[in-house]
Amino acid sequence: MNNLSIVILAAGKGSRMKSAKAKVLHEISGKPMLYHIIKESKKLSNDITVVVAHQKERVIESMKTYFDDVIFVAQDADNFPGTGGALKNVSVKHDLLLVLNGDMPLITAESLEGFLGKDADIIMSIFDLQDPSGYGRVVISEHGVERIVEDKDASDIEKKITHVNAGIYAFKKEMLETYIPQIDNNNAQAEYYLTDIIALANRDKRSIMPLLIDEEHFMGVNSKADLAAAEEIMQQRIRNFWMRQGVNMQLPQSIYIEEGVTFEGESLLENGVRLTGNTHIATSNIKAHSVIEASVIVNSSIGPLAHIRPESKITDTHIGNFVEVKKSTLNGVKAGHLSYLGDTVANEGTNIGAGVITCNYDGKKKYQTIIGKNVFIGSDTQLVAPVEIEDDVLIAAGTTVSCSKIEKGSLAIDRNPIRKVENFFYKFFGTR
Ligand code: UD1
Ligand code: MG
Repeated sequence: MNNLSIVILAAGKGSRMKSAKAKVLHEISGKPMLYHIIKESKKLSNDITVVVAHQKERVIESMKTYFDDVIFVAQDADNFPGTGGALKNVSVKHDLLLVLNGDMPLITAESLEGFLGKDADIIMSIFDLQDPSGYGRVVISEHGVERIVEDKDASDIEKKITHVNAGIYAFKKEMLETYIPQIDNNNAQAEYYLTDIIALANRDKRSIMPLLIDEEHFMGVNSKADLAAAEEIMQQRIRNFWMRQGVNMQLPQSIYIEEGVTFEGESLLENGVRLTGNTHIATSNIKAHSVIEASVIVNSSIGPLAHIRPESKITDTHIGNFVEVKKSTLNGVKAGHLSYLGDTVANEGTNIGAGVITCNYDGKKKYQTIIGKNVFIGSDTQLVAPVEIEDDVLIAAGTTVSCSKIEKGSLAIDRNPIRKVENFFYKFFGTR
C-alpha cells in the first residue's frame, strides 16, 4: 500500500457531456464520479494526486468535503491540453505510479490489483469491444503493443481494431520523467496525448505489458448515456451488497439506493423505493414507491408512497400513504394517511389523523410543532406553529390550532355548530 502513488486525471472539459458542470462532478449513486475513484484509490495508496483545470475551484471544493488528504495539481490546459499535458506538473512520492482517468466511476480497488506486482516499465490496459468507437485503438504487432492511435487520428483500417485503450496505466516513475517532456501535439486535436508514451517507450525497447480488463469496472463515461449505463452497474453492486447483508428487496432493479445509505438488521424494501443521502434503516419495512432522504428509520413501517425528507428520525412509528415528513423526530407515532409533518417532534402513543397539517412556515421563517405522548389529533387538523400540544390531549377533527399551547389532558375543538336546513335539497333541485 505504501509503495504506490496514484494520479487521477480530472482536468478535462468533458464536452461530450453537453453540460455546464465539469464531467468528473456528474453524480453516480448520489456522489460525484471523482469521489468514487478517490474512495477506491485510498484503499491502495497514501499518495493520491488529482489533476484539475476546468472548473478547478468547484472540483477541489467538492472533493474537500469528502477527503482531506488528496493533493490537487493544476494543469496548464491552455498551453498543454490533453492527458499528456495533464501529467506535466505532477510529481509523486513512490517509484510506481498508477494513472487513472477521472471518468471511470466503476473501478474498484480489487480490479486495480492486476496492475500491481508486475515487472514491466509500463502496464497498460486493454479491453476488447464490439463497438470500439470513441476509444483509442491499440496497435499490436508480433512484437507486442506498438502504439495507441486515438479515434480522431485513426485511419479507416485502424478504426476497425477492437482492442481499445482502457485509459489506465501503471508506470515506473522514471517513464514519466523521461517521456512526458517528449510528447508533442501533432495530432487531430492538437493535444498532448498521454497515449503517445507507448510509441516513445516502444522505440526505446522499454517493456510494455498489456493487461486485458473488463468493461464493467473500467468503462469511461463520456456522455449522459454512458452515465446512465454506469449508474445501472453501480446500483446493482450497491443492492447486491446490501442483499448479502440480509436486506430483503422486492424487484430489486426498481430500487435506488445511494452510496452512503446503511442498513442494520433485517429490513424489507418493496419495489420502487428510493433511498438517498446518509439514510440509515434498521429493521423496518419500506413500502412501495416511498422516498427517504437523509433520515434515520428504526423499527418502523413507511409508505406506500410516503416521502421522508432530510433530518427526520423515525422510531417505532407507522407512516402511511401520502404522508410527507420533514426534519421531524417521531417516536412511537401513527400517521396513517395524507399528512404533512414538518419541524415536528411527536411522542409515544400519539395518533395523527388523516389530513393533519403542521403549518410550519409563515412565509418568512420555519417554526416547530411539539406534540407530547398519547395525543389524538383528529382528521383535517391544522397545527399553526410554533405550537406545543402537551400529553393526553384530544383535538377534534377539523380544528385549526392557532394558540401556542394546548394543556395536558384537554380537548381542543374549533368548530361552528352545524346548521341544518330542512328540505333545502328539494327546493334547490326540485323533486326527482
Ligand atoms: C482517453 C484516451 C483513450 C482511451 C480512453 C479510455 C488519451 C489521449 N486518450 O480518451 O485512448 O481509449 O481515454 O476511456 O488519453 N483530462 C485531463 N486533462 C486534459 C484532458 C483530459 O485531465 O487536458 C482527463 C479528463 O478529465 C478525463 C481523462 O483525462 O478524466 C480522460 O479524458 P477524456 O477526454 O475522457 O479522454 P478520452 O477521449 O475518453
Ligand atoms: Mg473518457
